[in-house]
Amino acid sequence: MLKALFLTTFVATGAFSTAAFADGDAAAGEDTFKRCKSCHGIVNGDETIVRGGRTGPNLYGMIGMTAGTVEGFRYGDDIVAAGAAGLVWDEENLAEYVADPTAFIRTFLGDDSARAKMTFKLRSGGEDVAAYLASLAPMMEMEEETEEGEEAEEGESS
Ligand code: HEC
Repeated sequence: MLKALFLTTFVATGAFSTAAFADGDAAAGEDTFKRCKSCHGIVNGDETIVRGGRTGPNLYGMIGMTAGTVEGFRYGDDIVAAGAAGLVWDEENLAEYVADPTAFIRTFLGDDSARAKMTFKLRSGGEDVAAYLASLAPMMEMEEETEEGEEAEEGESS
């Protein structure tokens, strides 16, 4: 009886685990983001969530997005190659990336001469920033499901 209950709980939690996978603290991540905003803003259409610099791409909706695909941003070749090779940001790999972008891209591509244009390294708190970014935007997957309701969705936003 009890065992069955545990099992159900385990499975149910599993279904939602992607969002909380890297175990970050979004509130702490908001604070950590102060270290990113000299280069990155967070902008959703007309709504500026964090006003930031333009050295790096807008980070709105980054979780669930293919690496190197923010329109209008001029990336380095290697992150674009990583995206083309299937790199999609989730909380876990984004936290790894910000800890050492060049090392991450090298490992991902298996190419020791690859480089990231992001020169900053975050020593700790990457999971928190990732959780913060995840908390701001719905996952891309969810958009597919609501495709039919898109017009209705655009009309109201809170
Ligand atoms: C000194 C400027 C700078 C700082 C500070 C910085 N970044 Fe970046 N970031 C960049 C640049 C430039 C790129 C583009 C990398 C490339 O083209 O190789 C980038 C790329 C990224 C990407 C990949 C974006 C994509 O579209 O695939 C993520 C995620 C990211 N940064 C997160 C962060 C986070 C989180 C912080 C703070 C902890 C941060 N960055 C701090 C400059 C910066």
